[in-house]
Amino acid sequence: MSTVEPSPARDAASAAAVALIEPGTTIGLGSGRAVWRTVERIAERWPDGPPLRAAVASELTRARAEAAGIAVVELDGTFALDLALDGADEVDPELRLIKGGGGALLREKIVIAAARRFVVVAETAKRVERLGEGFRLPVEVARFAWRDTARRLAPLFGAVELRHAGDGAFVTDEGHHILDCELPADADLDALADRLRRVPGVLEHGLFIAMAESAVLGTPDGTVETLRPA
Ligand code: A5P
Repeated sequence: MSTVEPSPARDAASAAAVALIEPGTTIGLGSGRAVWRTVERIAERWPDGPPLRAAVASELTRARAEAAGIAVVELDGTFALDLALDGADEVDPELRLIKGGGGALLREKIVIAAARRFVVVAETAKRVERLGEGFRLPVEVARFAWRDTARRLAPLFGAVELRHAGDGAFVTDEGHHILDCELPADADLDALADRLRRVPGVLEHGLFIAMAESAVLGTPDGTVETLRPA
């Protein structure tokens, strides 16, 4: 397993994230490079075995967590997570997020919902004035009749495109497809989030609204800015 590509910004954010972890707690780990760097830093911080347990949001994170000696647990409805740590593709001033660049958004939302606190671990480069400025909104859909689902989504977005991986369509850990959707500049995000939930075939969307308590954002010079909702 390769180490996460070096980035001073990601490194700084990951260090700040590890500082939030209390020994003896059960945390949630999302997916993506910032989380995987955080996992590496957990292993560096506790080389004799991290004193924590973690629920993970992707099979890639599971592999990295296990390699770091973290006890991976399954969410079974009997306990809450103390803290969820996860990256983001875009972060706006109200701490609303687009997530799902890695295709793990459904499990990520479940893991975050199981946590008492959620802190975003990312780089300042992910900060935007308006969600959708530079990233399309991932929407996870059933493979069954996905073209029909895409047709139902088309009026809500500028463009709707099936995500590909290699020669075929991308398939999530849960066996679904992802539609990457261009957010209109004037989108009412709360209304859109509600509407998406009611579209048959949509399993989850990448808008994470009113979920994060803060974001630790690493800068290219290795410092950290903490963002809280406006
Ligand atoms: C995974 O599906 C995403 O939600 C990631 O959290 C997001 O894409 C950020 O990933 P990086 O930390 O790799 O930029």
